[in-house]
Amino acid sequence: MANYIFYLHLLSLLSLTLAGDSSSTRDAAVLLRVKTIQLSDPDSLLNNWHDSTTPCNWTGIKCNHQTTDIISIDFTDFGSLSGPFPADFCRISTLQNLSIANNLFNGTISSTSFSLCSHVIFLNISSNYLEGKLPEFKPRFGNLTVLDASYNSFTGEIPPSIGDSSSLQFVDFTSNYFSGNLPDSLTNLTELKVFLAPFNPLAGPLPEQIGHLKNLQIFRISSTSLSGKIPDSVGDLVSIESIDLSNNSLTGIIPVSIGRLKGLQYLWLYDNNLSGEIPDVFGNLTSLTHVDVSQNNLTGKLPVSLAGLQLVSLNVNDNYLEGDIPQILSSNANLIQLKLFNNSFSGTLPENLGENSELEEFDVSSNKFSGKLPENLCYKKKLQKFICFSNRFSGGIPASCGDCKSINYVRISNNEFSGEIPASFWSSSELQFVDMSDNKFHGSIPGSISGSLTKIAISGNNFSGELPPAICRLPEIVEMDLSNNQFSGVLPECLTKLKKLEKLNLQSNKFMGEIPKAMSGWDELSSLNLSHNQLTGEIPDQIGDLPGLNYLDLAGNLLSGKIPATLSKLKLNVLDLSNNNLEGKIPNGLDSEVFVSSLAGNPKLCSPDLKPFRKCSKLKSISYYLVGFLSILAFFLIASLVWVVIKTKLFRRSKSLWKITSFQRVGFKEQDVLVSLMESNVIGMGGSGKVYRVTLKTGQTVAVKKLYGVHRGAENEAEFWSEMETLGRIRHKNIVKLLFGSVGEDFRALVYEYMENGSLGDLLHKDPKGGFLLDWSRRYEIALGAAQGLAYLHHDCVPSIVHRDVKSNNILLDEEFRPRVADFGLAKTLQLEVKESDGAMSRVAGSYGYIAPGNSYSS
Ligand SMILES: *[C@@H]1O[C@H](CO)[C@@H](O)[C@H](O)[C@H]1NC(C)=O
Ligand SMILES: *[C@@H]1O[C@H](CO)[C@@H](O)[C@H](O)[C@H]1NC(C)=O
Ligand SMILES: *[C@@H]1O[C@H](CO)[C@@H](O)[C@H](O)[C@H]1NC(C)=O
Ligand SMILES: *[C@@H]1O[C@H](CO)[C@@H](O)[C@H](O)[C@H]1NC(C)=O
Ligand SMILES: *[C@@H]1O[C@H](CO)[C@@H](O)[C@H](O)[C@H]1NC(C)=O
Ligand SMILES: *[C@@H]1O[C@H](CO)[C@@H](O)[C@H](O)[C@H]1NC(C)=O
Ligand SMILES: *[C@@H]1O[C@H](CO)[C@@H](O)[C@H](O)[C@H]1NC(C)=O
Ligand SMILES: *[C@@H]1O[C@H](CO)[C@@H](O)[C@H](O)[C@H]1NC(C)=O
Ligand SMILES: *[C@@H]1O[C@H](CO)[C@@H](O)[C@H](O)[C@H]1NC(C)=O
Ligand SMILES: *[C@@H]1O[C@H](CO)[C@@H](O)[C@H](O)[C@H]1NC(C)=O
Ligand SMILES: *[C@@H]1O[C@H](CO)[C@@H](O)[C@H](O)[C@H]1NC(C)=O
Repeated sequence: MANYIFYLHLLSLLSLTLAGDSSSTRDAAVLLRVKTIQLSDPDSLLNNWHDSTTPCNWTGIKCNHQTTDIISIDFTDFGSLSGPFPADFCRISTLQNLSIANNLFNGTISSTSFSLCSHVIFLNISSNYLEGKLPEFKPRFGNLTVLDASYNSFTGEIPPSIGDSSSLQFVDFTSNYFSGNLPDSLTNLTELKVFLAPFNPLAGPLPEQIGHLKNLQIFRISSTSLSGKIPDSVGDLVSIESIDLSNNSLTGIIPVSIGRLKGLQYLWLYDNNLSGEIPDVFGNLTSLTHVDVSQNNLTGKLPVSLAGLQLVSLNVNDNYLEGDIPQILSSNANLIQLKLFNNSFSGTLPENLGENSELEEFDVSSNKFSGKLPENLCYKKKLQKFICFSNRFSGGIPASCGDCKSINYVRISNNEFSGEIPASFWSSSELQFVDMSDNKFHGSIPGSISGSLTKIAISGNNFSGELPPAICRLPEIVEMDLSNNQFSGVLPECLTKLKKLEKLNLQSNKFMGEIPKAMSGWDELSSLNLSHNQLTGEIPDQIGDLPGLNYLDLAGNLLSGKIPATLSKLKLNVLDLSNNNLEGKIPNGLDSEVFVSSLAGNPKLCSPDLKPFRKCSKLKSISYYLVGFLSILAFFLIASLVWVVIKTKLFRRSKSLWKITSFQRVGFKEQDVLVSLMESNVIGMGGSGKVYRVTLKTGQTVAVKKLYGVHRGAENEAEFWSEMETLGRIRHKNIVKLLFGSVGEDFRALVYEYMENGSLGDLLHKDPKGGFLLDWSRRYEIALGAAQGLAYLHHDCVPSIVHRDVKSNNILLDEEFRPRVADFGLAKTLQLEVKESDGAMSRVAGSYGYIAPGNSYSS
């Protein structure tokens, strides 16, 4: 369909031509038809294109003033125009300039339509979505001067016929998918001033005769895959100002012929595979300002002719260069950027380097330089990057660098520097990155340290003293490595306020005191190394809450206490707590083989089964659980009691605080029981108090023994509670269950399970049917059961319990007449440690005539 319309449109154009209208009318018709049939103009940018006016006044159209011929169609940067390449515009025979740059034109350009444009002078189709092969330049594009096809998606080879476009001065193919070799025919474009083809997958060597391009000024084919040698003929590029062949795979040597390129300003050959020596032919290249031959395979020395130029930047890093840096380098008055790193240069640097130029970037790292740094490196106060790590420099930081406000990036690690760092150096307000590790510096960190630091690494020196409070005023700090120095004193608590800190390494110093506890500011911290200091106290639980921590080394300190269970929440790649004084059970999650070496050297640590740690005492751990369980229980009971106090009138009146201890799982609430202690519910009176029968809402019946004659006093109370706790723990089928106990303002209450058939005493002596109900076999069962209950109290309970008031009234019977020993009012726990001579045991106690045999023996 589209094709049909297209051909229809061609026919109509043809018929117009045949109709012999005036050229101006014809051209207006061409414009309108292309607009209507081929262009998409969603923003109506071309809506002043009307038959009623002359095209010379239409948007994007320019005419020759005298002839009113259309000479330019310029849609540059309209942005939203789309459609196929509008070759039909080229039917306007007077058209010289056509630009559709920076729009949305797409699709391939057919050879037939492209050929319509062979007469144009200026063609800018940059920044569209054009694709496919760029058509041959046929018939000859003899007047084409400017061709900009950059930033499209053209594929295939650059058409060799481009070499016939002998007027071409400017060609830009930047950032397409042009592949294959550069056509040799390019070298016929003797008018060519600018040739740009970076960021294309071009391959193969440069045309041998490249030197024919006598007018070539700018030649940039970087970031392609060019290989082979740089042709000697480059030396014939007599007009050349800028060569950029960086990031290719060029091999061979840098041709000597470049010494002839007197107008050369930029020489960028970096990131290739060039080898051999840099030729010493730069003496006549006095225009040269920027040289970058870094990242090659170059050997030999830095040529004196190169070092002697007035270069702005000299980058020869990442090669195999060696020898001294020529002294003449320091006479350069333009030098701003000097990158000599990753070579094998040796000797001392030119003494006066920095005195004559506004040096900003100085990077001589990873060489074999020795001696002192030039004193005046920052003489012009412009130095920003001060990088000389991994050399053999000695002496102090150059005096000029001590007071160099412009410095922001310092890497001087791994040398033999010594002396103190001037305080003014630390306080330089631009200072962001400092790595001075592995030197022989000494002195302390001053209070005036710069607040803009993001990284400070000074490990492996002899720095000493306490950390100044200013160390906490580094809001931007991400990494702090003060390890392997002589720092002392306590760790400032405020370190944890460093919100952006990701790595903190204070390893192998003399820090003491405790690890700061409040760590809420360390949201970004991923690595914490405080190992090999003299830190004491416990490992703060809060470490387990650090959201990003994955490296934790606290080894070789004097840390004590338990390992926080919270540590197992962390996703640690490295954990080292070895060689401290940690104790107690290794928390779950850490008691695995993986962590054995992380925990070694803490003899008091224990684990149920992780070897080689000793076993944890089981009893102890059970009692820990019990205490824990009981405290949780107590907490809930107290909480519910508080609720009772608020809710219940009864207690609101007495306004007393109730204490309740529960020993069994009870399906009711304590206040349900306590509100039912009414006279109507009394079922018995004992020596120590009244007994109530309480039926709860749940239907369960309990017996409540309300004790009076409360002896006030903390000791009395404590004794009551401890006994009650002992009794509450007893579980035996022949001992009545104490469900819970509570202590109020003026009475105590013990709540037991209710025994349907009352006491054996009552049944035998008061109930007329008693004798009938209790046949001999039942009596035997009762006697046996009661004896088993007592035996359990004496022998199986820990600690043992002596009832001291065994009588038929204290033997209760459930609905099936099974006996339960009850009423422990006088019971005494027998603890071996207790001296029998003092305390209640020595007194004769109990109901008259029924003194327990056990009691009388021991008294
Ligand atoms: C073109 O537009 C200008 C105003 O922008 C006007 O003065 C002039 O008359 C117009 N010319 C034609 C031929 O329409
Ligand atoms: C055509 O393009 C050239 C080169 O950019 C330019 O100098 C000239 O002014 C343009 N002509 C018109 C009419 O826009
Ligand atoms: C082509 O147009 C673009 C705008 O998209 C412009 O940046 C570029 O300089 C133009 N090319 C030439 C050679 O004028
Ligand atoms: C050009 O773009 C239009 C709109 O996005 C699309 O419909 C059309 O298929 C594209 N043409 C080609 C040849 O990619
Ligand atoms: C180039 O321009 C000249 C003069 O403008 C013209 O005579 C010649 O025909 C044009 N050549 C081509 C190939 O269009
Ligand atoms: C350069 O142009 C001449 C004359 O037009 C032609 O004979 C020669 O083959 C061309 N060279 C290349 C490499 O295309
Ligand atoms: C080097 O060239 C490759 C393509 O060959 C490109 O992907 C890469 O980004 C370039 N590297 C740089 C630093 O420009
Ligand atoms: C550099 O050249 C060597 C041999 O001259 C070759 O083995 C190597 O692959 C080349 N490297 C690159 C990145 O082209
Ligand atoms: C520099 O130019 C002069 C004169 O043009 C010439 O004699 C000399 O050989 C050139 N030096 C180099 C190193 O090319
Ligand atoms: C670098 O050059 C040496 C010879 O100077 C050669 O042995 C080595 O293979 C080269 N390496 C690369 C990566 O080209
Ligand atoms: C040092 O330079 C050589 C040669 O270019 C390179 O192979 C090596 O990767 C560089 N070393 C570093 C650490 O960049």
